[in-house]
Amino acid sequence: MEIIFITSNSGKLKEAQGYFAPMGVKIIQQKIGYPEIQAKELEEVVKFAIEWLKDKIDKPFFIDDSGLFIEALNGFPGVYSAYVFKTLGNEGILKLMAGVKNRKAYFKSVIGYYDGEIHIFKGVVNGRIGYTKRGNLGFGFDPIFIPEGFTKTFAEMTTEEKNKISHRGRALEAFSKWLKENLI
Ligand code: IMP
Repeated sequence: MEIIFITSNSGKLKEAQGYFAPMGVKIIQQKIGYPEIQAKELEEVVKFAIEWLKDKIDKPFFIDDSGLFIEALNGFPGVYSAYVFKTLGNEGILKLMAGVKNRKAYFKSVIGYYDGEIHIFKGVVNGRIGYTKRGNLGFGFDPIFIPEGFTKTFAEMTTEEKNKISHRGRALEAFSKWLKENLI
């Protein structure tokens, strides 16, 4: 089985391909830019994007919208994560967190699959923001995020290790469970 993943993020693609490969599901990347609205919830961003994309693609496809939510910053960068990563980066987040004792944060991933209807799958991982950047695997905010129960950052984990516990791994798990029950 082949499924189209609309993304230009090679990190997300690698994780989805790594997750599905053992199931014999091939993930095909399509790089089509789509509007990401400013909304309070990732789910709204995903639904709007799918409504925009659905008439442009003639096969079932999915997208992933994710964000890093930092408790001491009232959930920032959250739905603005992509913009904040581009403008402030990991260094900027570490500066905002300088002197802040409460390091609690979570990552959330929302996957939207469209096959004539929209199906939403979500995953969350709790953790904390480190004091320095560590590791060079993964992408985005991985070097500053330490998942709960671990001392390593996501950027110090292989794709397989990260997928077992990450927000995206959990959303992919829910997605694959649904696929098995309904399609595969
Ligand atoms: P978007 O989902 O493409 O809007 O991306 C949100 C932002 O969060 C981007 O800057 C990503 O680099 C970052 N991001 C999303 N998922 C992850 C992840 O699994 N690890 C680290 N950063 C991530």
